[in-house]
Amino acid sequence: MPDDSKHEGSSVVVYPANGVRGMVRIPGDKSVSHRYAMLAGIAEGVSRFHNFSAALDCASTLDCMANLGCEWKRSESEGEGGTIEVHGVGPQLSAPSRVLDCGNSGSTMRMLSGILAGQDFSSELCGDESLSRRPMARIITPLAEMGAKISSSEGGRPPLKIQGGPLKSIHYKPEIASAQVKSCVLFAGLFAEGETVVEEPMRTRDHGEIALRAFGAEIERKGNASRIVGGQRLRAIEAHVPGDLSSAAFFLCAAALFPGSQITLPGILMNPTRARLLDILMQMGLKVSVAHLEEHHGELVGTIEARGAAWRGGLIAGSDTAALIDEIPVLAATAPYSEGGLEVRDGKELRVKESDRISAVAMNLRKMGAEVEERPDGMRIPGGQRLRGAELDSFGDHRIAMAFGVAALRAEGETTIRGADAAGVSYPAFFKELRKIAD
Ligand code: S3P
Repeated sequence: MPDDSKHEGSSVVVYPANGVRGMVRIPGDKSVSHRYAMLAGIAEGVSRFHNFSAALDCASTLDCMANLGCEWKRSESEGEGGTIEVHGVGPQLSAPSRVLDCGNSGSTMRMLSGILAGQDFSSELCGDESLSRRPMARIITPLAEMGAKISSSEGGRPPLKIQGGPLKSIHYKPEIASAQVKSCVLFAGLFAEGETVVEEPMRTRDHGEIALRAFGAEIERKGNASRIVGGQRLRAIEAHVPGDLSSAAFFLCAAALFPGSQITLPGILMNPTRARLLDILMQMGLKVSVAHLEEHHGELVGTIEARGAAWRGGLIAGSDTAALIDEIPVLAATAPYSEGGLEVRDGKELRVKESDRISAVAMNLRKMGAEVEERPDGMRIPGGQRLRGAELDSFGDHRIAMAFGVAALRAEGETTIRGADAAGVSYPAFFKELRKIAD
């Protein structure tokens, strides 16, 4: 992509490229950063996090924590997210002086609710237009069962009002596989009497369990059940947040589009509950190797080297759909360029993310001239298609904006992405980094 790519207000213009090459340092993982910030707030002592996520979503979590009495500051500027310090106040937070604004962040609202359910005050959580449409019954049901009093807008939508208090433990079997719900209930479990168990229908990301352990809690995982005994106190930690694999996915897919491309991504989160993405990318044809594997506070970290070769496409279904839920937009947006195309099944959850991601992907791909079959819980995108640059919309969704930034690299002609600044929700420097690696 030439250097003269221009940003027009919140629009970004992306030009076709011949390949991608180089190294990208990816900011800290969003899922881990949210959990570290919340647990640091209810721990004792001052926690420090290096490479903390630069995501606006994580800034929403930090602001909510500050509103609950946990001071935080950026202690040095190193990279984009930098190092932050959070002053823990122990399990009892202070009643907030204003509504807790979660912005665009479902993770903030859902996981923080678990902590608020155990507080001796009432609080209110709100979000932006997109978050105000997202389902919260999935956390209201278990928290109410534990004893919290929660009211919401019609259909279990935000804003939420939570009257916290003493909680009782539950054995909860959520119908939907959701790591946010699991973390929410386990965080509430810290405040409950007895042992709280979450038995999930399939394995979801386990950053909540790993972070709880890092802060000194005992938590047991057997099969698909995680158990925590209430009343445990957390201790502050100093940790390095691994690079976000879901952000790395955009560069990996960009490399996959061009045989001969080469990309290096150091210090990336390799947690097995997230790294299924790498298996799928390899099955689809990307050459991937991982070096310098290390463990940081229970999270695996490694350097990814990827090389574009044949891009074959494939099928994502069942537990793979749940494991790759955040990466499906970029896999789908780049699928028309693959040999065999892509089919996504069992992805009803895609419709209740920051946007309806099935319809957003289909609309943008059609604008680029692609054929797409949209289904209630997935899509089928034939391979071997040629796409043309077009005027696209982010639908206010960070992953849609970035996915089509990548797809645009192989289109014929330039692509304008309106509302591209949505990328800041998880990765503010994304388009700058994309320009740097595009030839
Ligand atoms: C997340 C879990 C996933 C994912 C989201 C982050 C987390 O959501 O889509 O971006 O940090 O736990 P669900 O828990 O709703 O599946």
